[in-house]
This record gives sequence, C-alpha cells and structure tokens, in this order.
Amino acid sequence: MPQHRDELSHLRARCGAHGPFFGADYNPEQWPREVHAEDLELMGRAHIDFVTVGVFSWARLEPEPGRFDLEWLDAVLDDLHSRAIRVDLALPVASPPPWLGVLHPDSLPQTRSGGTLWWGSRNQFDPSSPAYREAARRITRVLVDRYADHPAVVMWHVGNEYGQLSHGEHAARAFRDWLRRRYGDIDALNRAWGTEVWSLGLRDFEDVIPPRDTPYIVNPTLELDFARFVSDELLDCYLDLARIIREKNPHALVTTNFMGFFPLADYGAWMEHVDVLADDHYTDPADPATRLTASLTHSYLRTLGRGRSWVLMEQAVGAVNWRAHNVPKTAAQNRLDSWRAHAHGADAISYFQFRQAASGPETFHSALVPHAGPDTSRFRAAAELGEELAASPLAGQFPGSSRVFFVHDWDSWRASAGRGRVSEALDPITQNEAYYSPFFRAGERVDIGPSSLLITQDDAADGALADCYDLVVLPHQFLLRPALVPVLERFVGSGGTLLIGPLGGVVDQDLRAHLGGTGGGLLDLAGVLREEPWPLADAVTITAVDSATAQVHDFVEVLRTTTAQARWTMTQGPLSGRPLVTRRELGEGIVWYVGGLLGQGPLQAVITEVAAEAAIDLAPLPEDVELVRRGEHVVVLNHGQSLAHVHLGGQCVEVPGEDLVIGRDR
Ligand code: GLA
Repeated sequence: MPQHRDELSHLRARCGAHGPFFGADYNPEQWPREVHAEDLELMGRAHIDFVTVGVFSWARLEPEPGRFDLEWLDAVLDDLHSRAIRVDLALPVASPPPWLGVLHPDSLPQTRSGGTLWWGSRNQFDPSSPAYREAARRITRVLVDRYADHPAVVMWHVGNEYGQLSHGEHAARAFRDWLRRRYGDIDALNRAWGTEVWSLGLRDFEDVIPPRDTPYIVNPTLELDFARFVSDELLDCYLDLARIIREKNPHALVTTNFMGFFPLADYGAWMEHVDVLADDHYTDPADPATRLTASLTHSYLRTLGRGRSWVLMEQAVGAVNWRAHNVPKTAAQNRLDSWRAHAHGADAISYFQFRQAASGPETFHSALVPHAGPDTSRFRAAAELGEELAASPLAGQFPGSSRVFFVHDWDSWRASAGRGRVSEALDPITQNEAYYSPFFRAGERVDIGPSSLLITQDDAADGALADCYDLVVLPHQFLLRPALVPVLERFVGSGGTLLIGPLGGVVDQDLRAHLGGTGGGLLDLAGVLREEPWPLADAVTITAVDSATAQVHDFVEVLRTTTAQARWTMTQGPLSGRPLVTRRELGEGIVWYVGGLLGQGPLQAVITEVAAEAAIDLAPLPEDVELVRRGEHVVVLNHGQSLAHVHLGGQCVEVPGEDLVIGRDR
C-alpha cells in the first residue's frame, strides 16, 4: 500500500482542525463510568480532540476466550463522538490476557537461555505463535466488525510499540521459513554465514536454530539475519491485522507507534506500510543532550514520511516512572518539547496518558490529569498548551526540503554491535548524534534515513541526487551495500559533498569483510586505503594542515592516502605520520573521510569546514537556543532562563527565556 499522500493532513482537514490534533492515550477501562463523565468535561477544557483508546484493554474486552464485553466501549466511543473527539482505536494485541498463556503456554516468549516470559506484566507473546496470532485476529475481527463505521473512529492503532521477540520453537520454525525465502538453498546460506569458520556447516534449513545461549560468540550473520527476521516477523504481525481492517474499510487509516531509533525494528522497511507515521518519544529533562536526541529522532520520522506530517503518539507531560531517577518536565519544558515535535512535522501531539493510573505499574507515571486532579498547575498548563497549539500556523505545512542527508541503515547499526567487534567505543547512535551536533547547534535541518531512500531518489532524479542534497553524511556506514557506491560517486561527481565517518564500508550485507582495504569501494571515493582499525589505549595528538592541534581518543584507523590530501595527521604515538582526516576532490565535488573518534571540538571544526564547502553555514546559535524551520516558518525555542537574541531574515529577534517565537526568515 505504498502512498505518499499526507493522510494526517487530509484527516485534520476533514475534521476541521486548524492546529495539530492534541490528545492522549485514554484508558477508560481503568475507571468507573462516573469518572468517564468528568474525563469528557476535562478533555473539553484541555482542547483535546484526539485520543487513543484501549491500548491495553484486551482482558476487559474478551474476559474469556471468545466471550466479548463491548458495551462499555460502545458507550465510551459514543460519548467521545458526542464531544467531537476523534478516536485512534487500538487493537489491544500488545498484551494478551493471562488466559492465553494458561491455555496456550507455547504462546509465551522464550529467552535465549530457554526461560519463559510469563504473564504478570505485559507484552508476553511470541510473535510467531499460531495461538497468539489467531487470538489477535479474532479480537481484531470483532472490533473491526463493530467499529469500522463508528463515526468517532478515524484511525486504527495496531498493537503498541512492536518490539517482542522469542527464541523458542515457533520462532525457529518461522526463522527457517524466512531463511528459505532469503537464500533458496542451504549452500547459499552456508556461504553467506561463512559457516566454514568453527565447523558450523548446516546440512539443511531444519538444522538452523535462533541465536540461543552458546559456549562462545554466536556467528554474527546468524545474529544479523535473526534481527532482520524479528523485524519482518513483527511487521507481519502488524500487517496480518492491518489487512483485516483494510478488507473491511479500504479507506481506513492504520498506524502503529514506532520508537525512534529502535534496535528491534527496521522502520526503513516498515514505513511503506503505515498510513500515518507515529512515534513515541520521551525526553529526559535531566539530560541536556535530550534536545538533540529528540531533534534527530523527529528528523528521522519526518524523513521516513518523506515530509508527510506524523503523530507524536506518546510523550510524558511530567515524569516517567521507568528511569532510575524520574525528574519531571516543567510545564515550560513540556511546551517546548511539544512545539519542537510540531515544528518537525508532528501534527498530532499526544501523551501517555490522559488520567494518571491509580494502581498498577504506572501509578507513578505522569499524566495530563494527575492524582491530585484538575485543580493543579499540571492540568492547567496542559490545557493552556492545548489551546495554544490549536491556533498554530504550522499545521499542515510541508517542512521544506533539507540540504543535508544523513544515512542511517538499521542493519548497519545492528551489524556493528555485538561481541567480537573492534571496539565498543564506536556506537552508531552516538556517532549519529556527534555528527548531527554542529547542524543542530546551527539550526540546519537534516534528513536522516536509510540509504535505500538515497538510492530511490537517485533513480528518480535520474542520477542528479546532487539536485536534492548538497551534503551527504555517513557517520557509521559499517555495512555497505555495493549499490550505494555508484550513487555516491554520481552525487559527488556532479558537485555534491560527501562526509564519511570511521569504519566506513567494513563489511557487506552478509557481514563478510570487504577485502583489499577499499571499504567495498567507499574508501576509493575518499582516496584513502585502510590498512587496519586501531583502538587506542590513550588519546593521541593530531595536527591540522594549519598547525592546530587536538586529540583523538579511543579509536583510529590506520589509513594511507592514495588520491586524497591529509587535513589532520596523527603526530604522536605508534601511528605518528598517518592521516586521520582527509579530503579529496572528485569530479565537481569533494569527499571527506574521518578515520577516528574526534572529540566534539575538533569534530565540530571539521564538520563546519566540510559544510562550508557545500555552502552551508554552521554558525552556532546562542547557547540553549534551538531553531526549526517548517515551511515558511521558523520556530525558535529558547531553553535557557535568560533572553536570547537571534538573527532572522535580517532582523534581530528577542526570545524570552523558556519561551518560543515563531517567525519567518525570508
Ligand atoms: C510506552 C508505552 C505506554 C506507556 C509508556 C510509559 O511508551 O507504549 O503504554 O507504558 O511507555 O512511558
């Protein structure tokens, strides 16, 4: 069902919404009927026009297998409709009732060591279990038959944060089928996995098991293929139920909530299958880096959606309850968080959850209506934000195109992690953030997504990807598919600037080392050759062509220039004289390579210089100021306490502390 229509914008238009939708997860099954009446009144006061209903209500809806109790939900949906509150109706399949485990113990997930994950919490299902799948389809059919035409229901929310896995027999069977489809015959699998090493040769697909506890390091391609299988299997769980909805109503909007950069699902492969992209994001007010993480994660959603508006499905209004020390957001932080997401294209700003739970594991998780009730600054601030967002001029605006593209391939991330690698110091997510930092600090919008998007765009642009982007950044292209190299070569050849971070092109899609030191051709573009990786015991000094010095820490590569010029060279330690940062002119464009972990200062300097080559000015904004462009608008968020001054469109704009200004810069 690939489509690029901005479904959320169409929905908002149909509903007459001017600003973004504003809402929350709503779990009325936790409360008696009289509280529901107050809920409606408070939703009105908070300008709530969008709620996700019943994400964890399976046991209430189907207290015994095949016996359904839906009258309470009828009443809830009718009431919400009477107040023009739109419903994103959940298929509550993320948490089966205990009876499923009692009747079908094989539906429970198995750990790597063969242990069982029992009921008593949530999410206890094996995605490949036939009993789970059938029970999920049954409750879906019942809900779809009853509510597909309900006027309140505008969207369907399948499951919740898909991220379950099992290593048991059902998973083994499904994994074998997946491998049969991928490889066709066992010889191809043996070749891809390199099973000559450690006597792992498999006679038949039936010999395959999921990664389980083993005496020593598990074959890394088995791990990677299992990770790919898990993502596909979870997607299949989603599609299984999405199909039932779409059969009944081909125009239904179907979604599920993503979790940003999440290790168990390759959202680059999921993005085509959701009608509206949705994400859950919980900033940590105790961590100053949380703003950058949020900004990059929202950029990922915006990129996956090719600029379509998306749903911030869950965030906390105050504190969460799952960190070790749960510092609450202030009302100002919550407001700026919500505006950040909205400026990045979120046209539904929603929370977990509407009313704070009075019992159970989430009793101490914040909600729009806290335990103390609506006569609180928490609820009043939320209501004010709802009113403010309803008047937003940003909603429905196309974000505008970015000049910079960051490649983030999920399987490259997965391939580079795990035992038996070069160093744990090189974490792909940390690398993404380190490379993004200068752009974030300058308010320069960046697209970030899988390399498949670049390849598709290259095809569509008829070889002129450089017309779409000025700068492409590969912070951690550990796993390199050969198809990317000619795309990048054409991009650079026609004037693009390319920046490649350390350990580029080390392995292919089967985790086989690219031989010859050229990183599968990637390093040829850069004009360098890699002799070996070199984790450092101690930081070493590096010197730039202009004689500036800095330190490189934790990790470098032993490089040799072929056609590139060294810009920074190691001038201390056993690798003294080796290049670390290089630059090569290629066709009309330029390729930079960074062969180690630079500290944030020198990395900022290098990236600023690289960006300048692409005519992108990364002059930093004042401290604590964040800037996001959406359409013709510029949203300036001041997270600091004091007044900040920002230059916009030739004018100096004042932004009060802990406040925001929406302006224009052209
Ligand atoms: C997740 C879940 C929610 C809730 C929140 C709490 O995002 O989807 O149901 O448990 O965490 O932060």
